[in-house]
Amino acid sequence: MTALDPTARELLEKAEFIAIVTQGTDGPHLVGNWCDYAQRIGLDDERIVLPAGRYKRTEENLKRDSRIQLMVASRAVRGARTPGQGGVIHGKGSVQVDGEFAARAKAVFPWARGALVIEVERCEMQL
Ligand SMILES: Cc1cc2nc3c(=O)[nH]c(=O)nc-3n(C[C@H](O)[C@H](O)[C@H](O)COP(=O)(O)O)c2cc1C
Repeated sequence: MTALDPTARELLEKAEFIAIVTQGTDGPHLVGNWCDYAQRIGLDDERIVLPAGRYKRTEENLKRDSRIQLMVASRAVRGARTPGQGGVIHGKGSVQVDGEFAARAKAVFPWARGALVIEVERCEMQL
């Protein structure tokens, strides 16, 4: 099964940044990352791996509620009706400071304390 559909994957290859939402006790929490970082450390059919330099509140949120949503969009990907596509990637997330993904993040980005790992569940295009 391919959770990360081909359009979402193309978006992650062509867009500039990703908006990432977790749920805190006081409401949604929004952070960012660069799409090329995902390409450099981990982008496959089921998983997105991003370097975690900080992401402290994100980490705390994910310990309580692992649901995570990513929004990515690009004018360079054709939508159903117009140039430009974008959508939401739904999944489960964790900040991992040890293990394979953390090691991979630290090897590419020496400033990283670990990795934000997103296990993709489904993608939903909006355009
Ligand atoms: C475009 C963009 C890229 C970012 N890339 C990273 C990154 O690679 N790693 C990281 O830890 N924070 C990154 N940040 C900062 C995070 O959005 C966030 O402000 C910071 O990690 C603190 O997270 P927290 O509020 O969960 O503690 C980026 C922010 C933007 C806007």
